[in-house]
Amino acid sequence: MQNKADVIVILGTGGTIAGTAAQASDNVGYTAGQLGVGHLVAAVPALQGWPLEAEQVAQLDSKDMSHAVWQTLAQRVAAHVARPEVAGLVITHGTDTLEETAWFLHRVLAPAKPVVLTCAMRPASSLQPDGPQNLLDAVTVARSPGARGVLCVAAGQVLAAADVRKVHGYRIDAFAAGDAGPVARVEEGQVLPLRPWPQAQALGLACVMRDTAHWPRVGVVCSHAGVEPWAVEAALAAGLHGLVVEGTGNGTLHQALEAALAQAQARGLRLMRASRCTAGGVVGEVPGALPSAELLTPAKARVELLLQLLAASA
Ligand code: SIN
Repeated sequence: MQNKADVIVILGTGGTIAGTAAQASDNVGYTAGQLGVGHLVAAVPALQGWPLEAEQVAQLDSKDMSHAVWQTLAQRVAAHVARPEVAGLVITHGTDTLEETAWFLHRVLAPAKPVVLTCAMRPASSLQPDGPQNLLDAVTVARSPGARGVLCVAAGQVLAAADVRKVHGYRIDAFAAGDAGPVARVEEGQVLPLRPWPQAQALGLACVMRDTAHWPRVGVVCSHAGVEPWAVEAALAAGLHGLVVEGTGNGTLHQALEAALAQAQARGLRLMRASRCTAGGVVGEVPGALPSAELLTPAKARVELLLQLLAASA
């Protein structure tokens, strides 16, 4: 019987961290989600002897992430967070949609324990994989006294779910936190806090327990030079419930798209306006403008609008 919270649960979902290529020199032509989470843990000698539990929740390339996997993941995270002997969780995940999963778990659960997503840009079969160090750093953060909330640990940085975004398609330091910067760094097994751990109000697990086949349908369109409003018309025709628009600059929209969106809004489509810039977001309130996604990336804004629609219909 354990009398203190020291167990770390590691949930595997796939990704490049669990990927393999035919050649050790190949960091591009690999298949994600090949190795089980137990294999990833076993590859890090420094983790041996620590009170760890490993559980495979999914095994996929995160570009193929589904709402059903998110629902299962939220359930498993909530169940483990509620166990008194568990200090924190680590989730091994693909880099490509990590920020979406992070925002989903943050908004649904806002856990008081650390839930640390980690990943890799190079497959496990690489000559120099980044996954083992990231996994060790993630467990170090999950065991760190006072750590809480949904976090991402990669390349020595600890980034909050609200801030993390993938900013590079190849480099090992593929994530950034924009103007907010990291919450902490991990150096040689030490967690160096830079600002307070994230805290938030949870929507609650009940909000996402409906059959995912009946979740609101939310898409993303982009404003660009010469845009035609066919995507908005297609969204209405397909029966979507919500649409995020990736605006230019501070969330501004091409007038042709804005007119189509205004009509769609009048017909009941819920809208959210984000920025397609790689840093920053939508700042300030403009009278009459579509609802702002503020600092959320368009991909996270889609998750946010989905959750708002789910919460409103719960
Ligand atoms: C994935 O997102 O699952 C593949 C790409 C990666 O993890 O870097």
